[in-house]
Amino acid sequence: MLDQQEMIKLNKAGWNQVAGQFFEGTFEVLDYGPYAPAEEELALLGEIADSTILEVGCGSGHTLEYLAKRGARELWGVDLSTTQIETARKVVSPLQIPITFIESPMEDIPNLPENYFDKALSVYALGWTVNLPRTLSHIYKALKPGGVFVFSWEHPVHSVVDYDNEKEELKFRRSYVQEGFEKHDNWRGALIIMHNRKISTFINDLIQAGFIIDKVIEDSEVNDHDSDPSSKWYSATKARIIPSTLIIKCHKG
Ligand SMILES: C[S@@+](CC[C@H](N)C(=O)[O-])C[C@H]1O[C@@H](n2cnc3c(N)ncnc32)[C@H](O)[C@@H]1O
Repeated sequence: MLDQQEMIKLNKAGWNQVAGQFFEGTFEVLDYGPYAPAEEELALLGEIADSTILEVGCGSGHTLEYLAKRGARELWGVDLSTTQIETARKVVSPLQIPITFIESPMEDIPNLPENYFDKALSVYALGWTVNLPRTLSHIYKALKPGGVFVFSWEHPVHSVVDYDNEKEELKFRRSYVQEGFEKHDNWRGALIIMHNRKISTFINDLIQAGFIIDKVIEDSEVNDHDSDPSSKWYSATKARIIPSTLIIKCHKG
């Protein structure tokens, strides 16, 4: 069995390999994930202008660009992948506000100031952690009292079901209740380790870290005319039955 450091090392190599497939995003909307309502509709972050914001798992930097264009005062981005951080630096280079990058696992973020950030955000990245309580405790400490934390992740029920095209029904690909690590030898061409968690684990670990939960969102927004083939991992057919994305807003008490 691999230890946590070994898993992080494997995932770093994996993410460096697949990063090019994730050069995506737009600063026009803050997209929380497939078939999920966007920030423009949900207004979870509150006033962005003049805020100091931390993004955990900042990827190619498009969300940082979005926040900068809405008047954020200062931004910090943390990501495990060297390739993602290099891309993010290029994406934000024309922007005028101070942006600090930390290339680090979110499980152990060095030099993160405490009681410093008005908001923290993580879009489809938090679930990559191999140690959720430790990651949440870093984010909690970094926020000012009252500071808001919003994250999105693939909905844990969506992760356990496949759509059976022949029978036109959902079928379980694994247990929902069985949590733990799952090795994928060929995830978009890379070897990576994922961690399976229930919704209650996210919620209970947030509470344990000291967060007060404000909102849990499991909405699916599927256009009536969306005929995305049901064989795709994220599809309209699946999203009409089960939300693709889980979003949680909480704050530091
Ligand atoms: C699906 S991408 C999302 C990126 C970005 N938030 C977006 O919405 O485009 C997940 C990101 O999490 C990063 N990541 C994976 N494991 C991580 C870890 N343990 N610590 C920090 N970042 C990690 C990856 O390098 C990748 O950039």
